[in-house]
Amino acid sequence: MKIIILGAPGAGKGTQAKMIAEKYQIPHVSTGDIFKANIKNGTELGMEAKKYMDQGALVPDELTVKILLDRVAKPDCENGYVLDGFPRTIPQAEVLDSTLSEMGDAIDVAINVDVPDENIVKRMGGRRACLSCGATYHIEHIPPRKEGICDVCGQPLVLRDDDKPKTVSNRLKVYHEQTQPLIDFYHAKGVLRTVDGTADMQDVFAAITAILG
Ligand code: AP5
Ligand code: MG
Repeated sequence: MKIIILGAPGAGKGTQAKMIAEKYQIPHVSTGDIFKANIKNGTELGMEAKKYMDQGALVPDELTVKILLDRVAKPDCENGYVLDGFPRTIPQAEVLDSTLSEMGDAIDVAINVDVPDENIVKRMGGRRACLSCGATYHIEHIPPRKEGICDVCGQPLVLRDDDKPKTVSNRLKVYHEQTQPLIDFYHAKGVLRTVDGTADMQDVFAAITAILG
């Protein structure tokens, strides 16, 4: 099963993609997480991506597409995957589409996790991330057991640079301009399904599993 999770920054793509990956035993592939891991490890790719990410801008298609195609070519992706944060532009979607169709394959379903901008702004301001292991929390909805400390690895939690208010508004602007058109793109292919992303995360997941079966 090849699944795409679409949605604004902070819509809950990562939260849902993790649960899908676990239930359906397929890899969770997040371009954002790949970039963040590279930033953390100080790689050349990480340095390049950071220039864009810190502004709330998109990393150029050329770079992003290459990374994604390399990742999904790995053996663990043979039986499918859940893509989180990719594609994010029409050109990215077109490359993915043509690469898959050359192999006689296609995306099975694109799930749009729908959340209005007002909710997004509240969520991002409350999100705290562990830069060490990648776990995320929310000060109200999913607080860590000990304030400011990661439950998983015990490292300090931070407000990510790209979750700072000015960057969030830029990310939303970029989303509406460049990523939202993908909703029509996948609708036209007949694979789009939309779920209400403002519901409780378990209810969002139930709506998704009802679609995936
Ligand atoms: P990326 O890491 O993909 O960030 P994003 O899309 O901005 O989304 P987030 O990861 O912030 O949010 P999410 O939707 O995963 O929500 P989450 O589950 O964490 O990308 C980062 C950057 O990398 C981009 O800005 C760009 O520069 C670059 N990049 C990545 N991919 C790219 C591409 N393809 N092309 C070009 N550039 C690319 O949830 C958010 C918060 O809400 C959490 O605190 C969570 O606990 C909470 N929450 C989740 N669900 C619910 C719920 N139902 N109710 C209440 N709270 C909830
Ligand atoms: Mg994410």
